[in-house]
Amino acid sequence: MTRAALITYAPWTDRAGRLSWMKLATFLVCLAPLVWMAWEWRTAAYPNPMRGLIRETGDWAMRFIALSLAITPLRYATRWNRPVLLRRMLGLTGLFYTLLHLGLYLVDRKFNLQWIVLELFWRIYISAGWVATIIFVIMGVTSNDQGIRKLGSARWNQWHAWVYPAALLSLLHIFILVRLDLYEATVTLGFVAFVIGFRLLRSRGLQGDPARLLKLGVGIGLVLAIFEALFYRWATRVDMMLVLKANFDFTYRVRPVWWIISGGLLMACLAFWRRGFKRPEPPRSLQAKA
Ligand code: HEM
Repeated sequence: MTRAALITYAPWTDRAGRLSWMKLATFLVCLAPLVWMAWEWRTAAYPNPMRGLIRETGDWAMRFIALSLAITPLRYATRWNRPVLLRRMLGLTGLFYTLLHLGLYLVDRKFNLQWIVLELFWRIYISAGWVATIIFVIMGVTSNDQGIRKLGSARWNQWHAWVYPAALLSLLHIFILVRLDLYEATVTLGFVAFVIGFRLLRSRGLQGDPARLLKLGVGIGLVLAIFEALFYRWATRVDMMLVLKANFDFTYRVRPVWWIISGGLLMACLAFWRRGFKRPEPPRSLQAKA
């Protein structure tokens, strides 16, 4: 690779090869969990280090994938186009932590192929994790200009919509594993559902309709509350009414349902204030290269 190509594709430069402070800051944020985990490993912070690291890499994989999904609604809501430069970096960071997670899992299973294949077909959460990982890998490999050129932008966009089923499969994997502290997984599920709903509205040109955005947030919030109660019932046999009532108890922390409803309300208010969301233009640095 030539020096010029290295400068253009370095994670801290924009497409014109200029230093982008926003990209540099995001790159450091992407690296931070890795540094933190290495430090935890060195200081023996985990009672069971391998298990602790498998969980933590999985947590960060899901967080970065969710963040990469937030970019499109954020661009529409703020009319600020520069975050599009971060989408690929956030998605690839999600893929990086997923592969680290998988690598640690393989080490933990001592690369015992028989055991690994048995788990793949025997445990639903492992099958879901594998399918999601394969989709993320294919998307990661095609997530570059060459991929867009080869597939054509319409087909590339269609193919990259697979990120949503892959994110849902990852959440299935996580829900089956977590069982007790479902807080983060539930917020992430509500968020992914909202982003999918936003995409469906966008495909019909309705992304800027405040009433629909509000209905979307409230609808997903309510379904999420019922889903959470059903899940706790299945996992712990706890009374569904208790879980539903807990949504009105604000002494401990704000329940996931309120985050999703507030997100819908915020998007609806922004759409009302801006009189709809127009399709954002790509940033100038992207146009320059296009
Ligand atoms: C080949 C694919 C995958 C395999 C084999 C796999 C395997 C595992 C295993 C064995 C655990 C349990 C660790 C333990 O507590 O002992 C785990 C946890 C976890 N995985 Fe995966 N995983 C895969 C893909 C994914 C993907 C794609 C994501 C998300 C993007 C993910 C997110 C998580 C999370 C968040 C946890 C922690 C759950 C908890 O807090 O208990 N995994 N994974």
